[in-house]
Amino acid sequence: MRIHAGLVLTSIAGAVRAGNIQLPGLTLPSSAASNAALVKSTFLTAYTDYKTYAWGHDDLEPISKSWTNGRRVNGWGATIFDAMDTLYIMGFTDLFAEAVEFASNVDFSYSHTVGDHVSFFETTIRYLGSMLSAYELNGYQDAALLANAQLLADKLIFGWVPANGPIPYGSIDFATNKADVSSASNNIASAGSNVLEFYTLSKLTGNSTYQTFAEQGMVAIASNPSPPFPGLSPQQVFASGAPDGNVISWDGGNDSYYEYLIKYFKMTANANTLWGKTWAAAVDSSIKQLLKTTSAATGQRTYLTSASGSSNGFEMGDLACFSGGNWILGGKLLDNATIINFGLNITDACTNTYNTPTGIGGGGFAFVTGDGQGMPPSTAAQQAEFESFGFYNTDNGWYMRPEVIESAVYAWRATGDLKYQTWAAGVLQSIIKYTKGPVGFTSLNDVTRTDLSTDNLGDNVESFLYAEVFKYLFLMFDDPDHISFDTWVFNTECHPLAMGQNIPAPSGVLHSDPFPSPGTGTQSTQAGVKPDPTGKIAIGTAVSDPAAVTAAAVEVPAPPGVVTGTAVGDPAATAK
Ligand SMILES: *[C@@H]1O[C@H](CO)[C@@H](O)[C@H](O)[C@H]1NC(C)=O
Ligand SMILES: *[C@@H]1O[C@H](CO)[C@@H](O)[C@H](O)[C@H]1NC(C)=O
Ligand SMILES: *[C@@H]1O[C@H](CO)[C@@H](O)[C@H](O)[C@H]1NC(C)=O
Ligand SMILES: *[C@@H]1O[C@H](CO)[C@@H](O)[C@H](O)[C@H]1NC(C)=O
Repeated sequence: MRIHAGLVLTSIAGAVRAGNIQLPGLTLPSSAASNAALVKSTFLTAYTDYKTYAWGHDDLEPISKSWTNGRRVNGWGATIFDAMDTLYIMGFTDLFAEAVEFASNVDFSYSHTVGDHVSFFETTIRYLGSMLSAYELNGYQDAALLANAQLLADKLIFGWVPANGPIPYGSIDFATNKADVSSASNNIASAGSNVLEFYTLSKLTGNSTYQTFAEQGMVAIASNPSPPFPGLSPQQVFASGAPDGNVISWDGGNDSYYEYLIKYFKMTANANTLWGKTWAAAVDSSIKQLLKTTSAATGQRTYLTSASGSSNGFEMGDLACFSGGNWILGGKLLDNATIINFGLNITDACTNTYNTPTGIGGGGFAFVTGDGQGMPPSTAAQQAEFESFGFYNTDNGWYMRPEVIESAVYAWRATGDLKYQTWAAGVLQSIIKYTKGPVGFTSLNDVTRTDLSTDNLGDNVESFLYAEVFKYLFLMFDDPDHISFDTWVFNTECHPLAMGQNIPAPSGVLHSDPFPSPGTGTQSTQAGVKPDPTGKIAIGTAVSDPAAVTAAAVEVPAPPGVVTGTAVGDPAATAK
């Protein structure tokens, strides 16, 4: 790592106070209002079709005009949850209220998909993330929603098996409340993308246990004593925290651990310097090891690749395209123009991959660098594509993934460059034209086919189409001060969570410890937990920087009826 800790802290403190991800005075072009209205009406069609054909189930089947319950999302109505805060942000008040009512009453004590375990990662980011987001967006008043979120988290917490180490397992049997320990290692995205959600839950309920567990896992991944490169962790990690293998990547399965490092830094105002330092080191190593650029003749596109040991793969998946926006966000927070510019360059390389016959990008692409490294195109069509656009597709499918659009929104909000507005308006038109099913909107098998045949469409609409694609498109055209990137932190399913300060007390009584182990006392008699007479708790403690303590001591009024937890101590000390 080349960064002096002192320098980072100085610039971090200034940047966080300034909160300057968005360009000050950013104003929308006149075309934005009609594009925002078009996103809303398209989303409303998609959601209404879900309601008609799949209400209460996970996903719409737009060709069969039916529904399916997904293996990863367990039949609790994933689309309602993932659409919920999008409904709020777009102003669909009645539909939002209906979704909140539904979400508040789902019984999370068992999975509806028989024999299927519950995915710790997918359940955290989709269900827990959306409930906390909707609760915060709607002014901290839907007490039953928060209570149900806490019931779910009290099941998810069984993902951790403290006797085996600080890293959560990837799946949990909700019938027995046991993690599936047969997979010895988990990937870092699955294990390391929960601090935003669990911290927020601790903040809102006054129970610090959630934050403590989540931080322990994150600390263990970030504290790898001999990473392949500083800050970059192998994609697999054992429950003990020991790394498994030497594959490094910002692609699927590896991605959102890095995403959450810098977002957690932002959410907790640098309460523990580990997050920001590790992220900056990961970016620095990635600039040296993973960024690859094509020749001037093919437009000097900069891609973020993956590596296995010292061998680089000259390929990028669209999932990794989130890195453009994440580097813009982190570069802004750390006040580092180099990182911002690389983030913009990655974003531009990714938006460029939407140069296809449908105007929608594929799931993966490859290239040859200016100095001749990489995977040469193997067909004449690939060769032509590469010569025209500086990439060729290795995967022609569009899986409703939002990452390229996501990064374009960060680029727009940070720079005000109208090219991102123009690009997104074109993508919106393409989605309306090419992904429309008999009902709803869906995936494309082949982004190079323009024949509008249903056999080019997928028959399963992932809930993240509603959470992410439509929301990011809307945020592109929406007033930047409405859902500002300076005050909201988006989880990896695009559910915005508030920065720490000034949380009003919820109005209802919350559940606490609904699944007590035999012999556990009630909350009021638990040893060592005393009600705080001030009704305030401090969340997050600075590890080393005294100046950060002030910034990090987030004061949260205690919700009525809940005993406040004790403040979380040094997470590094509990991570062993
Ligand atoms: C906090 O939540 C944990 C996890 O569900 C639970 O075991 C514990 O009893 C709760 N503490 C209090 C004080 O409610
Ligand atoms: C992590 O990224 C690598 C390289 O792109 C990929 O091969 C691997 O499948 C990813 N891991 C998971 C768990 O998806
Ligand atoms: C900004 O980030 C780059 C890339 O990691 C690094 O080389 C440089 O030292 C950083 N600048 C500052 C002022 O920290
Ligand atoms: C970004 O791309 C532009 C245009 O190709 C290039 O001039 C610039 O050097 C690149 N910046 C970085 C930080 O790579």
